[in-house]
Amino acid sequence: MYTQGLLNAGTDDFVEDDAFLAKFQARIDNEEKIEPNDDMPKAYRNTLIRQISQHAHSEIIGMLPEGNWISRSPTLRRKKILLAKVQDEGGHGLYLYAAAETLGISREEMIEQLLAGKAKYSSIFNYPTPSWADIGIIGWLVDGAAIMNQIPLCRCSYGPYARAMVRICKEESFHQRQGFDITQTLAKGSAVQKQMVQDSLNRWWWPVLMMFGPSDSDSTNSDQTMRWRIKRFTNDTLRQKFVDATVPQAEFLGLTIPDDRLKWNPNKNTGKNNMSGGYDFGAIDWDEFWRVVKGDGPMNRDRLKARSNAWDKGAWVREAALVHAQKSAKKSQAASQKAA
Ligand code: 3HC
Repeated sequence: MYTQGLLNAGTDDFVEDDAFLAKFQARIDNEEKIEPNDDMPKAYRNTLIRQISQHAHSEIIGMLPEGNWISRSPTLRRKKILLAKVQDEGGHGLYLYAAAETLGISREEMIEQLLAGKAKYSSIFNYPTPSWADIGIIGWLVDGAAIMNQIPLCRCSYGPYARAMVRICKEESFHQRQGFDITQTLAKGSAVQKQMVQDSLNRWWWPVLMMFGPSDSDSTNSDQTMRWRIKRFTNDTLRQKFVDATVPQAEFLGLTIPDDRLKWNPNKNTGKNNMSGGYDFGAIDWDEFWRVVKGDGPMNRDRLKARSNAWDKGAWVREAALVHAQKSAKKSQAASQKAA
């Protein structure tokens, strides 16, 4: 997408002294977008490569739990919608890998890091989808949490990432609505359907809260990424916003959030301008979070195996595309020589 002509990005030859850093920070504070050919601190570049590539990996790994239900969707309409949604996630991966490539890393390198287990991707995709209700709950809650986290990324200081996020967020909001629609259909359906969707909510609620990342006191990257305006809100702020937005939706659906300590607190300071109050909620099991992040969640091994198989099976497509590109380049070179 953006990467032609940027193959030497990352080899900047400039002095990263205090004057340069102050000037760079002033551009950020002035809300200027940083573009691929601009000089940037190495740490800024590396942070973006880390975050954007993790994000891209999350999108393509995220195709797997829902892909599991394409062949078993309950109606043709639901199947068409799910197919389109899973395809969208592949597209999001594509925009994000392309945005990361503008920073001087190749797609092959990023995929290698993922398949070798060296790169992180979102913890949420390491949970199984044993029932159709999970497809509703993923759309409603996982995509809902993703939107809460990703809307501010549309204003991220790095141009290619910010622009990719605009389209991604539009598509995510469709995903969230289709998930709410499935959830609502089940919640208003038979007793068995209602129980199925409640069971699914019970399994996904806490992992969804973990998606926002460790609490602010344990978030190693937030301070710097917020100074660089890559992130605009802390993990805890976004988690609180998500809980506050979601509880009334669950009440409307007649579903129970599995948290005995969930309670409206009119005096809670959630940092929102001119508004006070927010939900208190129970403690997140951070041991579970770190176990999953470190590769020991219920589906980590299956997810990486599936991606690894897809990479191997796609080798012939990559080879064919390369040969085709080489042939086309030769043809157009010959044509321009003839014309000269
Ligand atoms: N899963 C796995 N690792 C996580 C994590 C999660 N849910 N949350 C945090 N971590 C990791 C971080 O990557 C970091 O590790 P690293 O330094 O080795 O990279 C470590 O835990 C400490 O966390 P920090 O809070 O310091 O990390 P960040 O400042 O990077 O914040 C983040 C984490 C909020 C996820 C941020 O990176 C972010 O906003 N990323 C972009 C959005 C994204 O990647 N979302 C993933 C879901 S995509 C999705 O849901 C697809 C949709 O189709 C459903």
